[in-house]
Formats: sequence, C-alpha cells, structure tokens
Amino acid sequence: MKRILTGDRPTGKGHLGHYVGSWENRVKLQDEYECFFLIADLHTLTTALERTGNVAENVRDLVLDWLAVGIDPNKATIYLQSLIPEVTELFWIFACLVTVPRAQRIPTLKDVMRDLEIEEPSVGLLSYPILQAADVLMVRADLVPVGRDQESHIELLREIARRFNRLYGPVFPEAQSLTGRVPTLVGTDGQAKMSKSLNNTIFLSDPPDVVEQKVRGMYTDPKRLRATDPGTVEGNPVFIYHNAFNDNVDEVRDLEERYRTGRVGDVEVKRKLAAALNRFLDPIRERRAKFEAMPGLVDEIILAGTARARAEAQETLRLAKEAMRLPYGGV
Ligand code: TRP
Repeated sequence: MKRILTGDRPTGKGHLGHYVGSWENRVKLQDEYECFFLIADLHTLTTALERTGNVAENVRDLVLDWLAVGIDPNKATIYLQSLIPEVTELFWIFACLVTVPRAQRIPTLKDVMRDLEIEEPSVGLLSYPILQAADVLMVRADLVPVGRDQESHIELLREIARRFNRLYGPVFPEAQSLTGRVPTLVGTDGQAKMSKSLNNTIFLSDPPDVVEQKVRGMYTDPKRLRATDPGTVEGNPVFIYHNAFNDNVDEVRDLEERYRTGRVGDVEVKRKLAAALNRFLDPIRERRAKFEAMPGLVDEIILAGTARARAEAQETLRLAKEAMRLPYGGV
C-alpha cells in the first residue's frame, strides 16, 4: 500500500480553505493509502516565537477539526512532530545537503517575510522546507497532498532525496505532491487566499449566525449596482463558494443563470449560500462538539499515533546512517 504524509501547522481553528485545499482529500485518501497526518508544531517556531504558549491549545483545536471533518485515527496515524526527535536529527543531515542560495530561492520564504514584515530570516525560517522534507522522508512517504503554494517545498524534497540516494544509496523515495480539488480558495473579501492573517475566513467551527453574517459581508461583483444589472459569475467569490459547497447543483445553476441576466439580487444569492454552507457545516460542528466532550481523547490519539510514527522514524534514521556509514551507523 502506498504511503502518504501530510499535515498542518497548529495555528488555530480550521477554515473552509483548509477543507477544500486538503482535508476533504485526506478523508478520501485514508481509505486507499497508509496515511500519516502530522501536527507540525516545530514549524510554528519559525514565525511565532513569542506565542509558544498557544501551541498546546492549537494542537488540540487542530486534532478536533480533523476528527470533525472525518479523519479517522483508526485508519490514519495522527502524530505530533515535536515528540519525534529523530525528525530533527534527519533534518540536520538534510540541511547539509542543501546550499544556502538554494534554500533562499524558495518562493514561500519571500512571501512569509513580506507578509509578516520579517527583514532577516532566522536560520530556522530559511530551513523550513528542509524540516518539511525530513517529515515526509522520515516515514518514506510516496505522496504528499498539499496546497499549490507548497509545491516548491516538495520539489526541494525530491532534490534532497535524489542527492542523498546518489551519495549514499537508495534510502528515500522521491515523493510526489498531490493537490486538492480547489487548490486555493479565495477569501470572503475576494483576496486570492483564505487566511486567518488576512481576516477573510469562515471557520469550520463558526456558529450558523456568524456564517450568515460573514456571507452577508462577502465581496461580490463590484460592477453590479442593481439586481437588474447583469453580473459576472466567473471569479466571483460568492459563486466560487456556491460551486464548492452547495450540494444543490440545480439551485446553483439557476442562480448563475439569473445573476448573469440580471434577474436575482445579491441578497438572495447570499442567503442561499449561507444556508448551503450551514447545511455543509452542521454535521462537522456536531461531530466536533461530540469529540470535544470526550476527555482525554485527543491526548490518546496523539500518543498512540506518535508511537507508531516514531517507530518508522527510528527505522528510517537507522537506514540513513547505515547507508552513510556513520560510526555505529545502523545501531
Ligand atoms: N508546511 C505545511 C503547511 O504550512 C505544513 C507541513 C509541515 C507539511 N510538514 C509537512 C505538509 C510535511 C506536508 C508534509 O501547510
């Protein structure tokens, strides 16, 4: 069975962008592949050094979100990165295989520095994708389901695997990326990406009235002033969401048709979107509440999954050191 590894940084509650970008895909993949889903808490240190106290709560929120959308710890291995010291050990070996200019060429580095107004990156931030490569290759995964923005990281990972294998022998697979059905979801404000830092999200755990209020305030076709003006459906966030989440396809086609020909008001389009989103979110919210009420559940899942993942990590590190002929390598 082919093996998958993917995961998220624990940065807070999950939103619709996470869902379409990857979580929905994971729920399907867990039936067809051996899946490892990691909680990348060490990665959060690259940008949130002053907020390390929030990590524990964010880890819990993330696991609850995963469970709520249908990720099943009996099928997939859920684990916490910081509980696996072998990952940072492998990271070191990999860090020695990557030149500084190569690491500097990763586009997400510039994006993060710009968005967070970081003038000079830490060595940790520069090495972010190298740690990610260690995550994936630690379990010798074949496939990495990620958003499009992460593809440059997977490219680097493949270079690292190739370089290691050429130098020391075939230990690591050249893992491939796998993108979801809506690689990046626009924000409610029409900006290219739904993101907590842009404040344009709808959280999976938002209550129904909050969803309604956020949808009412959504960005739509700015050129359309009256309900009788013909509107543009393409690229319109309200319709992008209708297409991504409304299970009533006939309703969506009808609204599109009437919008294009100036026969429907924004209020109706948005009211129907809010209703569709709440239909979609209801079972997720219910499951989240159920799991949240089970004491110790999240801790048990993390500890059991981490034990499984760690056994893999230890074996991989042994193979790597053996291939490198390090002293006592393979012990
Ligand atoms: N960088 C990923 C993100 O921000 C999180 C991540 C860390 C990851 N390690 C990984 C994703 C390994 C896939 C595989 O979304």
